Amino acid sequence: MKILVIGGSGRIGSNVVRRLSAQGHDAVPASPATGVDTITGEGLAEVMAGVDVVVDVSNAPVWDDDAVLEFFTTSTRNQLAAERDAGVGHHVAVSIVGADLLPDSGYLRAKVAQEAEIEAGNVPYTVLRSTQFLEFLPQIVETGAEGDSVRLPTGLMQLVAGDDVAATVTELATAAPVGGRVELGGPEALGVDAWARRLFAATGDERTVVGDPHVRYYGTELKGGELTPGDGARIGTIDFDAWFATYQQEAKR
Ligand SMILES: NC(=O)c1ccc[n+]([C@@H]2O[C@H](COP(=O)([O-])OP(=O)(O)OC[C@H]3O[C@@H](n4cnc5c(N)ncnc54)[C@H](OP(=O)(O)O)[C@@H]3O)[C@@H](O)[C@H]2O)c1
Repeated sequence: MKILVIGGSGRIGSNVVRRLSAQGHDAVPASPATGVDTITGEGLAEVMAGVDVVVDVSNAPVWDDDAVLEFFTTSTRNQLAAERDAGVGHHVAVSIVGADLLPDSGYLRAKVAQEAEIEAGNVPYTVLRSTQFLEFLPQIVETGAEGDSVRLPTGLMQLVAGDDVAATVTELATAAPVGGRVELGGPEALGVDAWARRLFAATGDERTVVGDPHVRYYGTELKGGELTPGDGARIGTIDFDAWFATYQQEAKR
């Protein structure tokens, strides 16, 4: 199959392109770096020609509330219009577990808007709702940095390795459209603060981690298990220790 990967230079996208190519598919990475911009529309119609499936794993360059909402709405609308013109048979996108449960987060509101565009877009689709990526943990932890300590929510997260996400996206992209959502999480759920302690123990970071149930996670308070997947979710196989070993090797390269 010819499979267009929008955001094919990114963390998940480059991994998906590798996996699809290894399976013998014609995987085409597309992003501003290759002359395809889903916001301006540049290169979009041309790159859609003959495409069977579009995988959207792009991300907004700016995460201010208005900017991120504008990005996911416009980008998705433009992709779907080009897909309808080209007769693409399947749109696959990656969203976030619990996005609709946390409306105080501008980023999550933007992902809900992206899902709504897809559901109304008249192209057969599959939405993979993933939990947060393990690769994203260092960035999450730094949002709580306060001198010699980090203050982080105690709400649960069920981090999943990007490699498990890419494997699942690849599987979904080469199967029939689900016409709905599939959920994916990692093998373990811990408080955000507990994940930070685990990361600090592994990296030798000596800062103190303070767990605070009221501190916000990307603009929203976590009350219960909003960021953990529900029954029937797929569960990734890569745990923190296995992920960290690979992450360290890549950091040394
Ligand atoms: N981080 C998490 O924990 C998490 C959890 C669940 C779901 N997700 C979702 O997973 C998806 C992939 O995330 P990621 O971390 O792999 O992304 P990433 O590494 O930041 O990559 C972003 C990609 O988007 C491309 N891009 C940016 N602007 C574009 C535009 N105007 N037109 C076309 N492509 C554009 C970039 O292209 P260039 O390289 O050319 O700039 C790059 O290939 C996102 O939709 C995110 O919301 C993330």
